[in-house]
Amino acid sequence: MCGITGYIGKKDAAPILLQALKRMEYRGYDSAGISTIHKDNVTIKKDIGRIDSINEKIELGKAEGSIGIAHTRWATHGGVTKENAHPHPSCNQEIVLVHNGIIENYQKLSKELSNNHEIISETDSEIISHLIEEEYNKEKDPLKTLKNVSKKLEGSFALIVIFNDKKDEIYGMRKYAPLIVGIGKQENFISSDIVSFIDYTDNVIFLEDKEIVRVTSNSIEIVNFDGDKISRDKTHVAWEAADISKEEFSHHTIKEIHEQTSTVQNALKQDDEKFKEFVEKLKSGKNIFITGSGSSFHIALIFRKMLTKFVNSPVQAFLSSEAEEYIELMNNNAILIPISQSGETADLLEVIRNVKDKGVTILSIYNTLGSSLSRVSNISLNLNCGPEIGVAATKSFTSQLAIVYKIIFELGEVKNGNEMIIELSKKIKDVLSKEKSLQEIIELLNESNDVYFLGRAIHHPIALEGALKLKELAYIHAEGMAAGEIKHGTLALVEEGTPAIIINPKDESYDDTINNAAEMKARGAKIIGISSENNEVYDHWIEIPQVEKILYPLIELLPLQLLAYYTAIRKKNNPDYPRNLAKSVTVK
Ligand code: G6P
Repeated sequence: MCGITGYIGKKDAAPILLQALKRMEYRGYDSAGISTIHKDNVTIKKDIGRIDSINEKIELGKAEGSIGIAHTRWATHGGVTKENAHPHPSCNQEIVLVHNGIIENYQKLSKELSNNHEIISETDSEIISHLIEEEYNKEKDPLKTLKNVSKKLEGSFALIVIFNDKKDEIYGMRKYAPLIVGIGKQENFISSDIVSFIDYTDNVIFLEDKEIVRVTSNSIEIVNFDGDKISRDKTHVAWEAADISKEEFSHHTIKEIHEQTSTVQNALKQDDEKFKEFVEKLKSGKNIFITGSGSSFHIALIFRKMLTKFVNSPVQAFLSSEAEEYIELMNNNAILIPISQSGETADLLEVIRNVKDKGVTILSIYNTLGSSLSRVSNISLNLNCGPEIGVAATKSFTSQLAIVYKIIFELGEVKNGNEMIIELSKKIKDVLSKEKSLQEIIELLNESNDVYFLGRAIHHPIALEGALKLKELAYIHAEGMAAGEIKHGTLALVEEGTPAIIINPKDESYDDTINNAAEMKARGAKIIGISSENNEVYDHWIEIPQVEKILYPLIELLPLQLLAYYTAIRKKNNPDYPRNLAKSVTVK
């Protein structure tokens, strides 16, 4: 949700910031802007649209100055307008900031400030620049100013601020939103995401919540909101610029889909001791809760279904945004397993904040190195799938699933568990190579307004995930359902030609699901069966290889990813950046 970045060094800031914005476009892409300072002149360039088109129009990458900040926006407060785009200046244009997060008390602050300040935009973010101006005028001390401002802001924020009378310094501060300092040679970076500066450095400092940082081209100073100095070691991140290129693929999404053979294998490479400790803790838990949002929630559902068979304690899975009653139920014997690709999803982090003091053990599964989730967990397992740039989760989903399998196999004392998953990963390529055979189905989906995805038992979460992919990428209304539930409403919606995608490999749920498919077909639905075995009910059959029953979810998902991607292409949508969405949802 919004990407912010800043540069200070000897080079021109604007081209570096422009590249950083492109890298962070997955975080929000409805407007963008850059501000630099050069010889007492503050330049601000911003507009609405995708970064490339803004750049063509107003040359974002051309502004003088070797200090600057930039922002790519996903609108929360205030529509998509040039005024609402960041950076936001103070009234005297001497202080400029970019913000990611939501200021909950902005209306109250706005009322207080409106007597002395001209408020131009509808955003909560602009209010902060006036608040900083107000405080800065008292003492001209940026650190003190930001400390005082931090006390007045309610909500979540990561800010980067520059002051025209402090041209050698750039300031960042964070509370419940990510902010990372990149340590270069004679230059430093601040950003929401490492990918924005990975071409320049892979040495970083992760700021913690309620910290402020003062960065010059060769120094980094951190204080907390009480003004105490903080010393923090740098971390070396094992990511390379190559990880974020599209290579020969036309989109990140399809590249990431095709990476899954190796990413599933990489997910298995866990530190042995840490992994065993994770599983031991899980075994000893008296009450287990799993949470996530979006695709990560679908993994939570699969995990719950599998885990229930291997532990003695009750297991619950819940959406991070619907956590109230589960939070009530958690006590110091409870285990919470948050699952998140970004490790920054606001709803998920809030659940943790609400239970951490109760002594709940947090065992997390995450991808983004240094993310807030990894730092608030007792033990965390990393997906090791590298940066995922496409907004819709693809490789991170199958990596999460691979880790779930690894845990289940460990609990079930399956000796060759890893080998089974590696064997499975080798079949991924074959399934993905059949993309041409999907053409007719893609045409059918392209012409449809509604598509239903049906599955039972462990295939139900995959039905949910398949529907989510189609919605996100192809903008088609899609519903994932427990196959048995169609009789309780959905059949009323079936018309001649309505596509129903039936996820139905050969296992105990096969016959019941076939019956449900037949019920849909009898009302005119076109049945697309995903299975290792053909059936006369299917109008179209997507063949998947036969694998161990428990491993089907991973393999049956692959054609669903392809269908969503290629239907998006058919519709001329950009699958990497679906409209109105953002990858990292750092607001509630
Ligand atoms: C957004 C993304 C989804 C993702 C969800 C949860 O909606 O577009 O792809 O599944 O957030 O994100 P997380 O990073 O917590 O897994």
